[in-house]
Amino acid sequence: LEKRMSYDLIIIGSGPGGYVCAVKAAQLGLKVAVIEKRATYGGTCLNIGCIPSKALLYASEQFDHVGHLAPLGVKVGAPELDLPAMLAHKDATVKSNVDGVAYLFKKNKIDGIIGTGAILAPGKVQVTKDDGTTETLETKAIVIATGSDSTPLPGVAIDEKRVVTSTGALELAGVPKKLIVVGAGVIGLELGSVWRRLGAEVTVVEFLDRILPGMDGDVAKQFQRMLQKQGFTFKLGAKVTGVDTSGEMLKVSVAPAKDGAGDAETLEADVVLVAIGRRPYTEGLGLEAVGVVLDERRRVKVDAHYQTTVPGIYAIGDVIAGPMLAHKAEDEGVAVAEILAGQAGHVNYGAIPAVVYTNPEIASVGQTEEELKAAGIEYKVGKFPFSANGRARAMLATEGFVKILSDAKTDRVLGGHIVGVGAGEMIHEIVVLMEFAGSAEDLGRTTHAHPTMSESVKEAALGAWFKPIHL
Ligand code: FAD
Ligand code: NAI
Repeated sequence: LEKRMSYDLIIIGSGPGGYVCAVKAAQLGLKVAVIEKRATYGGTCLNIGCIPSKALLYASEQFDHVGHLAPLGVKVGAPELDLPAMLAHKDATVKSNVDGVAYLFKKNKIDGIIGTGAILAPGKVQVTKDDGTTETLETKAIVIATGSDSTPLPGVAIDEKRVVTSTGALELAGVPKKLIVVGAGVIGLELGSVWRRLGAEVTVVEFLDRILPGMDGDVAKQFQRMLQKQGFTFKLGAKVTGVDTSGEMLKVSVAPAKDGAGDAETLEADVVLVAIGRRPYTEGLGLEAVGVVLDERRRVKVDAHYQTTVPGIYAIGDVIAGPMLAHKAEDEGVAVAEILAGQAGHVNYGAIPAVVYTNPEIASVGQTEEELKAAGIEYKVGKFPFSANGRARAMLATEGFVKILSDAKTDRVLGGHIVGVGAGEMIHEIVVLMEFAGSAEDLGRTTHAHPTMSESVKEAALGAWFKPIHL
């Protein structure tokens, strides 16, 4: 006998998009269910993404930091790595976060269902449980929040032990002597940093002639130098064409990205991390049968209100267009919940920050210099180095700078880019300023506590508007 339940909203996927949408919708009075095929809620971000990576980035940064205390007059012996304990810290961090989502579901009377969801028709969702039993649920609206998974590299088979994606790189059994990272994007540089700090020799093979495509060119160039100082080797304009796993060491074939641009070579490695991007995950949802159309990059196509080509079926997060970021998914989740409750949900895509949690951190919001040039917008640049900031000197954190880009005519801030310790926290005053369409003068005239790293944000704004004081 089939059990029938009826909801206002069923969400497929419990990542930052899905679970936040569920909580907001429940707060607005809707009866909500969330279907998740993983054993725990929280999606990629909480289980195998943002959260475990940040636990390892923090721990490995502390390990590395101990070696840099002598100039401060602090003498300590060489640190000793207890990798199982470090991984246990990561696992405990994940557990408390995913438990937190389960708690939020209970608190907001959201039905969390573990199983695989498929859409039978608008208003009808089938759940297949682990034991193979199925259940059909009825609902007024459906939100697809199934996220993404890592893009495979043709000819390279992933075993998550020696040839890994980010998932395997979060739980290596030992520190590899030689790690080859394919792709100088966010995952490659963050997880490359983790293992570099713990002792691995890291070589990054990147297809393009620069690292971190999409980030401001100035930032990427300086950051590459900083990583090289930390011991990273970069092979730019190169691609991995195959990995031979037959021997004790992996044999990695590397060729120039452009044919004829140089010689192919073979590099040895203990571990290869493939981090060449992520792709939307829509497998087994039954989208074609119900008529939900995908775009040219196989993302679910939505209108300005996140509705797919089928009325009553919506989509948010990594599975639709836009930056694949947890906070973007969350804010889309809130917007859809508001729209379904009859309110005006909206996301400002012009002011979504992006942070790379390396040391130093990189943070960015709005347009890059390259984008402004390409758009033919006249702009002013204010740039302030942390080497001229008193607090940064006191902390030996003088690497990096703040860059503010403003409209040459109106002085409106169009972009902010920071490389430096704490960049990921500092960026938010620029985000708020941009959310309120503020100007460089507004930011430059705002009192900042002294001595703080954030004074460099004010100084960069002063530089874009008029002149910085301390430069
Ligand atoms: P997801 O989090 O991918 O969640 C989708 C969920 O849907 C999954 O749990 C999946 O199991 C489930 N699902 C899929 N199909 C079905 C189905 N048919 N039935 C039931 N359930 C289904 N972003 C940041 O902003 N900051 C970071 O620091 C950051 N770090 C990252 C580090 C790594 C290593 C990785 C891989 C990603 C990182 N990201 C980060 C990206 C971030 O994880 C994603 O942008 C975010 O998780 C997207 O949220 P989502 O809700 O769209 O999808
Ligand atoms: P990415 O898109 O950031 O970087 C992939 C890199 O691989 C690019 O530089 C690309 O040019 C390169 N590349 C592509 N094909 C290649 C090939 N065949 N050989 C060599 N290089 C190749 O993707 P990444 O790092 O896998 O991350 C996926 C997503 O996860 C990103 O979109 C990011 O937004 C998100 N993420 C966010 C984090 C954060 O916000 N801190 C942390 C980790 C992931």
